Amino acid sequence: MADFTNQNFDLAGKVAIVTGAGGRGNSIGRAYAVALANAGASVVVADLNGEGAQRVADEIQATGGKAIAVQVDITDTPSAQAMADAAVDAFGGVDILVNNAALMVEMGAAATISTDRAGFERFMAVNVWGAINCSQIVAPLMASRGGGSIVNQSSAGAFPAQSLYGITKLALVAATTTLATELGSQNIRVNAIAPGMTKTDAGSSMTPDDNPFVQSIIARCLVQPRDTPDALCGALLLLVSEAGRWMTGQTINVDGGWVLRY
Ligand SMILES: NC(=O)c1ccc[n+]([C@@H]2O[C@H](COP(=O)([O-])OP(=O)(O)OC[C@H]3O[C@@H](n4cnc5c(N)ncnc54)[C@H](O)[C@@H]3O)[C@@H](O)[C@H]2O)c1
Repeated sequence: MADFTNQNFDLAGKVAIVTGAGGRGNSIGRAYAVALANAGASVVVADLNGEGAQRVADEIQATGGKAIAVQVDITDTPSAQAMADAAVDAFGGVDILVNNAALMVEMGAAATISTDRAGFERFMAVNVWGAINCSQIVAPLMASRGGGSIVNQSSAGAFPAQSLYGITKLALVAATTTLATELGSQNIRVNAIAPGMTKTDAGSSMTPDDNPFVQSIIARCLVQPRDTPDALCGALLLLVSEAGRWMTGQTINVDGGWVLRY
């Protein structure tokens, strides 16, 4: 048994894919990609917005990190396969997958009671199938390297789900326990992070202070009700590194105490 040191968080030699890391300027995906690169990983910055992904990859390279950009539609299996192939071509394999891409702003005020089947299927396709699709493609690559770590991006808004968006994010919690069950024998751990109100361009546009629902959340939080995306990165590094090797099937709330649950 070795004593624990900060080295347990080190990701040198690891290869990580982060989806949804290139869209809006200030995003959680960007923060995740930068944090993983700063911990030593080679990072595939993947997004539907290829130019945005390139900007983030350039930013990482400019500070001495290793990154490439890939334009991907996570709902499309050949496109997700091409993303994984790019990771293998550039860096030799995949150890870490962060399923962060989602529709959030786009879902806006979409009410479950009035969203038609086409709308429902689009939201589920991106927010739930997209994560499963990428996991299906990447899991064999992880297994061939002796294991890996998958992190799904849920939301405090899933506890309880009070919107169609919340339904998709709660489904990701179930996908997390299910994939963890199915992949544990291959030493692939699957966990999730459920962020609170995060100060991204997308998040800030959706949670104005004067909204009564937002006010009720602010009142519930035990420490600051909003924080910047870097506040989520400690949980991410725990889940994807040796430091978190005994954790799988878990969803960690990082939300200022908005959601209290066992
Ligand atoms: N900001 C918050 O307050 C908050 C809170 C809880 C959870 N989240 C979750 O965190 C994640 C990132 O949020 P954000 O605030 O950075 O939002 P964001 O909108 O900036 O990031 C989402 C990214 O996903 C990409 N994307 C959408 N559809 C895609 C597809 N089919 N294929 C590939 N990429 C696609 C978008 O281009 C965008 O870059 C999302 O999963 C969101 O639901 C955010």
